Amino acid sequence: MKKTDLVVSSLVIAAAVILTSVLAVASVGATATGQSGSSASITRGKYLVEVMGCHDCHTPWKLGPKGPELDMSRALSGHPEELTMPAAPALPPGPWMMSAAATMTAWSGPWGVSYTMNLTPDKETGLGDWTLEQFIATMKTGRDRGKGRALLPPMPYFNLAKLSDEDIASLFAYLQSLPPMRNRVPQPVDPPDSSQ
Ligand code: HEC
Repeated sequence: MKKTDLVVSSLVIAAAVILTSVLAVASVGATATGQSGSSASITRGKYLVEVMGCHDCHTPWKLGPKGPELDMSRALSGHPEELTMPAAPALPPGPWMMSAAATMTAWSGPWGVSYTMNLTPDKETGLGDWTLEQFIATMKTGRDRGKGRALLPPMPYFNLAKLSDEDIASLFAYLQSLPPMRNRVPQPVDPPDSSQ
């Protein structure tokens, strides 16, 4: 091998080594912030959504051949817009305190009636126009986008508040990666005696 060839090939190897380490640092950076919607962050978010039970309330249930099951064709799209709920049943005094719709997306209790939100990234009816900062603030404060009204039961924001910002960012990255579904969830209803 000529001396110049040797120099050229060592330069090529050096460049390849530098490039590889730059790429390695870049991918570690993306995972660490979780913000960029990197595939690692989305995978982590999917895992958290599944183990933390977001589907339980935010995906409507339907009656399948083996009993109630999640309707995954409406995954995470919240209370179905076309399902208008009748007035919630009045419960007798005693330890029974709340009622839930067969879809598990509408809940009634001493707080009135709450409907689970559309978590898909539809711009008008879901989380499409939310920023990561608003999503984190909602989970940390239990208020809509960190500033609005207090969230109603049974949304377990106090559990989510204990997640690291990085994990909340992964949840958000996954939710934002879903196909947007247009579904306008009704506004919550105050309890009957709230005006007194
Ligand atoms: C036990 C039922 C339940 C579970 C489990 C649940 N939610 Fe909710 N969630 C609700 C209800 C009900 C509302 C509507 C509350 C309201 O209108 O104040 C809601 C609202 C929200 C909102 C909207 C907040 C806003 O400001 O409008 C977000 C975002 C949200 N949930 C995310 C999640 C995520 C992410 C998970 C899983 C980690 C989850 N929820 C699990 C019941 C649930």
